[in-house]
Amino acid sequence: MTVLVTGGAGYIGSHMVLSLLEKNFDVVVLDNFSNSSNTSIRRVSEISGRRCELVAGDIRDKELVKKVLMEYEVSDVLHFAGLKAVGESVEKPIEYYENNVGGTLSLCEAMKEVGVKRLVFSSSATVYGDVEKMPIDEDTPTGNPSNPYGRSKLMVEEILKDLVISDSSWSIALLRYFNPVGAHVSGRIGEDPQGIPNNLVPYIAQVAVGRLDFLSIYGHDYPTKDGTGVRDYIHVSDLVEGHLAAMKKISESPGVGVWNLGTGRGVSVLEMIKAFEKTSGRKIPYRFVNRRKGDVAECWANPSKAESDLSWKAKRNICDMVKDTWNWQVKNPNGYS
Ligand code: NAD
Ligand code: WQD
Repeated sequence: MTVLVTGGAGYIGSHMVLSLLEKNFDVVVLDNFSNSSNTSIRRVSEISGRRCELVAGDIRDKELVKKVLMEYEVSDVLHFAGLKAVGESVEKPIEYYENNVGGTLSLCEAMKEVGVKRLVFSSSATVYGDVEKMPIDEDTPTGNPSNPYGRSKLMVEEILKDLVISDSSWSIALLRYFNPVGAHVSGRIGEDPQGIPNNLVPYIAQVAVGRLDFLSIYGHDYPTKDGTGVRDYIHVSDLVEGHLAAMKKISESPGVGVWNLGTGRGVSVLEMIKAFEKTSGRKIPYRFVNRRKGDVAECWANPSKAESDLSWKAKRNICDMVKDTWNWQVKNPNGYS
């Protein structure tokens, strides 16, 4: 059984590939390296001691995708490929819809034409928009995400649901990630943002290692426990285990399922800084600045549906997330370069 991992050279995809290889799946990665390089996959092969097929190419190249699906006798597709920078999506909406929506349509067409019908899609908690009541369960109506990136995820979810309505032999898992952080325990693969990080944890890690001078905290007057934004950070290795559980589930029952992948615990920006200072032994200088446009005050999951349907639950806590992020950052102060 071969699993196609689109975007497998990226942050979450590379952790997924490692886990699949360790579980003895055969894996083929399709990545256009727009936000990654082949170094992650080389390291994944070194850690696992197993070879992974790597195809440099784009999910929008339908003939290439068909060739890959047939040549490697793919049974399941884990679809991580896409663009993910919220701010950039506001500047470049066409690129985001083209890649995230157009790319997924093209991938599904290729899958349909060769008869591969099991798909796990990387969705996001951003599809809920601004929700008043925490925690968020899957019955919470999807809202209006405040940017093209979020809307592209919502559109893809709707398209995939329609696909299952049209042909019930498809099996699709829509996994809504909360805030993935952390790195593999080896410290050899991790998140390597290009330029200045947009997200909190890689930003703090770069302050701690001395690449950036201080953290700007976006807002200190939110109606939260300490006035700063609260999120549900989830260790990337837990996230990956959630995918394995979803793969198992959709192999047993066709249809479409939606699952939150979060821990169910909300952590504030100040709590995250404190955890990082404790683990790294470094001071994290910070300044309060205005709120960031589009940010919500708080967002955390009710992850109980994944626990009951998939028998999956996040096991790692904030200490593990921070320890593994720091280990990766110290061993790779400049990322993969
Ligand atoms: P990433 O940018 O590290 O990985 C995405 C990979 O896809 C990259 O290697 C990139 O080169 C590749 N790619 C992009 N467009 C492609 C295309 N058209 N064809 C082939 N390859 C292409 O991002 P990530 O953090 O690993 O995220 C993986 C998925 O999870 C994305 O779909 C993202 O939207 C989703 N997601 C991420 C987060 C997060 O905070 N990291 C949260 C929720 C959802
Ligand atoms: C977390 C908290 C910020 C940076 C984003 C996307 C979302 C998803 C995950 C893909 C917030 C605060 C941050 C900084 C700060 N991605 N912060 N200073 O905004 O919850 O989610 O990534 O699907 O779609 O929107 O994550 O890590 O950017 O922010 O104070 O320099 O940290 O205000 O409260 P967010 P984040």
